[in-house]
Amino acid sequence: MAGIDYIERIPNNVDLREDRRLLRALEDWQPKFLDWWKEMGPDGFQAKDVYLRTAISVDKNGWAQFDYVKMPEYRWGIFLAEPEPGRVVPFGDHKGQPAWQEVPGEYRGTLRRLIVTQGDTEPASVEQQRHLGGTCPSLYDLRNIFQVNVEEGRHLWAMVYLLDAYFGRDGREEAEALLERRSGDRDKPRILGAFNEQTPDWLSYFMFCYFTDRDGKYQLAALCESGFDPLSRTCRFMLTEEAHHMFIGETGMMRVVQRTCELMREHGTDDVGKHGGIDLAAIQRYLNFHCSVSLDLFGSEISTNAANFYTASLKGRFEETKRADDHQLKDVLHPVPAVQGDRIVTKEEPALITLNERLREDYLADCQRGVNRWNDVIKKRGIDVELKLPHRGFHRAVGVFSEVRVSPDGRIISEAEWDARKHEWLPTEADKAHVAGLMQPVYEPGTFAGWIAPPARGINGQPVDFEYVRLA
Ligand SMILES: [Fe+2]
Ligand SMILES: [Fe+2]
Repeated sequence: MAGIDYIERIPNNVDLREDRRLLRALEDWQPKFLDWWKEMGPDGFQAKDVYLRTAISVDKNGWAQFDYVKMPEYRWGIFLAEPEPGRVVPFGDHKGQPAWQEVPGEYRGTLRRLIVTQGDTEPASVEQQRHLGGTCPSLYDLRNIFQVNVEEGRHLWAMVYLLDAYFGRDGREEAEALLERRSGDRDKPRILGAFNEQTPDWLSYFMFCYFTDRDGKYQLAALCESGFDPLSRTCRFMLTEEAHHMFIGETGMMRVVQRTCELMREHGTDDVGKHGGIDLAAIQRYLNFHCSVSLDLFGSEISTNAANFYTASLKGRFEETKRADDHQLKDVLHPVPAVQGDRIVTKEEPALITLNERLREDYLADCQRGVNRWNDVIKKRGIDVELKLPHRGFHRAVGVFSEVRVSPDGRIISEAEWDARKHEWLPTEADKAHVAGLMQPVYEPGTFAGWIAPPARGINGQPVDFEYVRLA
């Protein structure tokens, strides 16, 4: 294992100095990345000092250090989790073989596509969030969004490293293309739908971190199991950063819910909009929207692509190695939802083609845990309302439910009922206008916008009123 190399312009633990070809490729890409960052990264704060953590080593206690950094000077680097001695391919046709240190020729195209698709989401989310600094609810939140942004930038580096190190000229071309697509652009959009949606306000942003970024967590977890060891190790380290992004989404929503409940108690009404809050019904509509578009990211319930990725030992299941089965799944069935007339039924299908749905199940169970915590906040304040995840068929554009209309409680409904009731279920123009109206920046240390409660504690042991971003 190489140590962390800070002498090079690109901090890394992959012995970059020893590989002149790769070093040149990355040094050639670095200024283009910086150009992209300056053009598409956080708008208006590039010259400010931000209290950020930077990865300096991959071991448990020492992987992050905190200091004030100007974002364009962030030390984006390449960090892979420590190799597992003697690691073998944990699933698929190659199960039991030594994990691959090079790309098997037969899977080159498929593996490159997987890496590019993951890589594309990283800069996409930075682009989606680039204007949010102008309306932050506090310096604490401002610092947190910038932390997420620089780490998504580092995740792009992680994927570009794999492309440059293992895929030759095609990899270099893909690395360039990752900087050329733009979220929401009509002519050169990002690859996946949810990453072309807008993140216009902080409620959407917290929902994005909670639901959409969590898709990323599950995709990374599935790629951690890959037989291609460099991909596995890269994703394992990315997951440690991802945990903080999940935290921001979960606690951000928890603070919004808490503030809403406080306003409900204080004013004796559900309708806290006129008191500067966001009512629980609107929060539920935002939740329905972000959950449903994120569910689409997992792909169709029945997918031969997913089967092929698994059989080829490229992309596993969530916690593959902890499961007690044959890890090949050739003769097993798995239940998946299907639409039969006006009913939602369950069908047994060959397990291999249901792997997207299984990852979606694991994801939904994880989503439910946070929603339970938000509901605890509501209950603790004596309010009899529960936030709920919508049925997985609700508002879907991908898979078996894309052809029908499904209510949040899981009934197939007519187009007429959908049209009559969708304003109860999805954010309305009035919701969006109200939320947009609340988005006034708060830049005073320790002060918070009226629609969100302060956090329970600060970052890295600092007080809540710490000057997380120096604006002066
Ligand atoms: Fe990421
Ligand atoms: Fe993330």
